[in-house]
Order: sequence, then structure tokens, then C-alpha cells
Amino acid sequence: MQKTVEILPDKAALTMRALELILAQAQNAIAERGRFTIALSGGSTPKPIYEKLAEQDLPWDNIHVFWGDERYVPVEHPDSNEGMTRKAWLNHVPIPAGNVHPMPTGSGDPAIDSAKYDAELHAFFQTPPSEFPVFDLMLQGMGDDGHTASLFPHTEALNVRDRLITVGSKDGQPRITVTVPLINHARVVIFLVSGANKQNALRHVFATEGDDAQYPSRLIQPQGAFLWLLDQAAAEGL
Ligand code: 6PG
Repeated sequence: MQKTVEILPDKAALTMRALELILAQAQNAIAERGRFTIALSGGSTPKPIYEKLAEQDLPWDNIHVFWGDERYVPVEHPDSNEGMTRKAWLNHVPIPAGNVHPMPTGSGDPAIDSAKYDAELHAFFQTPPSEFPVFDLMLQGMGDDGHTASLFPHTEALNVRDRLITVGSKDGQPRITVTVPLINHARVVIFLVSGANKQNALRHVFATEGDDAQYPSRLIQPQGAFLWLLDQAAAEGL
């Protein structure tokens, strides 16, 4: 579906708009299907949104939280996306432990952990190996190099089309990441992009013609609803 772009005055306004959209999608999903499945982005942009979610009174039993990518570290490590999310949000709400589905990073082999999460998603969504599960919502950040999740420029992960989860690589460091087709199958994909340092990458990602391998966020062309939430600083010059 064609993307929609909303430009908010600043990061605080982007945070509130994202919260509003997440709550609306949660309500819709639970009303229609009895549950809400969301895949989270890591990094710094979504953290204030997670902190706002910690203040909400929601039907937590019907909400299932997954991640779109994870650094290959234990949850206690300061770089852990799961750790950041638990501190900002999940530790503060009565969500059942079984509703939180972290990406495994404990086997010592990223390929094994990636395959484990792939299998966990197929089991949860009850999809056969050949089918892509449909998340109700996937939150995506974008790096200043145009990456999203852990789909970094000119890495093998960009080309994986036959799996849900694969091994990403950032400067030689392994990551666990969702694949391009899994993101593109989501009902709703929302990019959250804040800060002047994202301007250049945004121009390349939004351009009609461009190098998808150099700016991997260009590969995200979801069949469902597709929204970019930008703050003014990031959108300057578009
Ligand atoms: C991660 C993220 C990554 C992030 C971008 C933007 O694990 O770091 O999933 O894809 O969304 O790097 O990060 P910021 O929000 O910190 O700019």
C-alpha cells in the first residue's frame, strides 16, 4: 500500500501520535480477532513511547509483544532491546509472562537462535513454513544509514525471502532480525523517525529511484497500512 507521511513538530508530539495509533490498532485487533500482536523496534526513538504504554490500562491478557530485532547480547546487557523495553514498559504492567516473546540470544550461535524464533512465530501464529504470519502492527525505526530492524546496508539479511527471521550483521556484530517479507506482510507498519541526522537517509528512502541495498528501508513496501511518523527535524528538506 502507498505510504502515508505525518510530520509532527517534535519528538514529544511524535511520541504522543505513535501512542494514539498503537492504542487504536490494539483496540481494533482485539475487537476483531481477540488479540493484538505487535513487533517492537529497538533503539532510542521508541523508548518514550514504551514509557507512555507503561501508564496505560489495557487488556494485557490479549496483548502479545514480540521484537523486530535484537542485539546478540543477554537481556541484562545495556544494548539489549528486550532489556530496554522491559525497563521502560513491560516491568510496569501486568502483562502475562507468556505474552512477552523475546528473541533468544542465549545459544551462542545466532543462526540457531534465529531459527528458534522463526519456529516460535510459526507455532504462535499457526502458520505453515511456507506462509508469513501477519502481525497486527510492526514498529520500525530507521538508522541514519537507512537501515531498519537489523537489516543493514549490503548485508545478506536483505536478500532473505524464505524465512521469517534471519541473522543480521552490524559492523561484524551479529543481530537477530525479522526479514523484509515478514515486515511487508504486517497489517500495519509504522516507521518512527526523529532527528536531523535522519534527513539524508530519508531523502534516499523516499526517492522514486534509489539503491535498496544501500538504503534498506526502501525494501519495506507493506501490503497493509503503511505510515511514516517523522518529526520536523527529520523531515527538513523532504
Ligand atoms: C535497533 C533498532 C534499529 C533502530 C534504528 C534507529 O536495534 O537499534 O531496531 O533498527 O530502530 O537504528 O535507532 P534510533 O531510534 O536510536 O535512532
